[in-house]
Amino acid sequence: MKLADKVAIVTGSGRGIGRSISEALMAEGASIVINDMNEELCKATTEELTKAGGKVLGVVCNVTDSASIEKMVAEVMEKFGRIDVLVNNAGITRDNLFMRMSEEHWQAVIDTNLTSAFKVTQPVLKVMSKQRSGRIVNIASTTGVHGNFGQCNYAAAKAGLIGFTKTIALEYASRNITSNAVAPGFIDTDMTRKLGEEIIKSYTDKIPLKRMGTPADIAEAVLFFVTGGSYVTGQTLEVNGGLYT
Ligand SMILES: NC(=O)c1ccc[n+]([C@@H]2O[C@H](COP(=O)([O-])OP(=O)(O)OC[C@H]3O[C@@H](n4cnc5c(N)ncnc54)[C@H](O)[C@@H]3O)[C@@H](O)[C@H]2O)c1
Repeated sequence: MKLADKVAIVTGSGRGIGRSISEALMAEGASIVINDMNEELCKATTEELTKAGGKVLGVVCNVTDSASIEKMVAEVMEKFGRIDVLVNNAGITRDNLFMRMSEEHWQAVIDTNLTSAFKVTQPVLKVMSKQRSGRIVNIASTTGVHGNFGQCNYAAAKAGLIGFTKTIALEYASRNITSNAVAPGFIDTDMTRKLGEEIIKSYTDKIPLKRMGTPADIAEAVLFFVTGGSYVTGQTLEVNGGLYT
């Protein structure tokens, strides 16, 4: 139990990668804050993890909304009194080729996948700074490293998140707070299932390990940055089955 007495917030953890990360942190003894803007998902996941024996607080919160974030952090402090781990995981896609990309879809992806990390990390870092310890992991994407057809908004947001990760690492190293990013490749979740079988097959064929990743593959990488890696900060770890494009 490497995380006994530790408290972790995972944004967008009602399902998919965020839920799997929460389960992995919980298995190491952490108290978990399940956060999602989708009330139903948030409630169901909170109930299921609690039934499985976890110390879990569910907070419905939209991570693009500062007031709602402040409320979440206040609730966490009231219930648990500390925050040791923050995983900025909430994210969306609104794909289209560059010339067809609407400003609305550009902005929605920047707000949810990048600005949210700025908004959530600020109040959390106030708490971690006082504690003089903390671990921040941002869920980026291989798209943020290499680019991808139809994802200029998503690539820009995730590349921004990687730059954000490195800067927080520099500014907070003196307070014993690490900041790293995990960049997933093609992972089997609701986000990718909506692409349909044909596209999924064409992507999977290109992956050297010949399978999509699972949310648990990503959780394993997050766990490294949270439970080990005390001399690793500002790093981006691609978890992509060997596909570096
Ligand atoms: N699935 C992949 O192949 C893949 C690849 C690279 C990166 N990622 C990243 O991993 C993260 C998780 O993706 P996933 O595949 O689990 O997606 P998902 O769509 O299955 O889950 C995302 C969750 O985030 C929640 N969410 C969305 N916007 C929110 C907001 N504003 N406030 C609070 N909650 C919000 C959703 O309700 C949902 O429950 C995302 O940041 C995504 O960009 C995923």
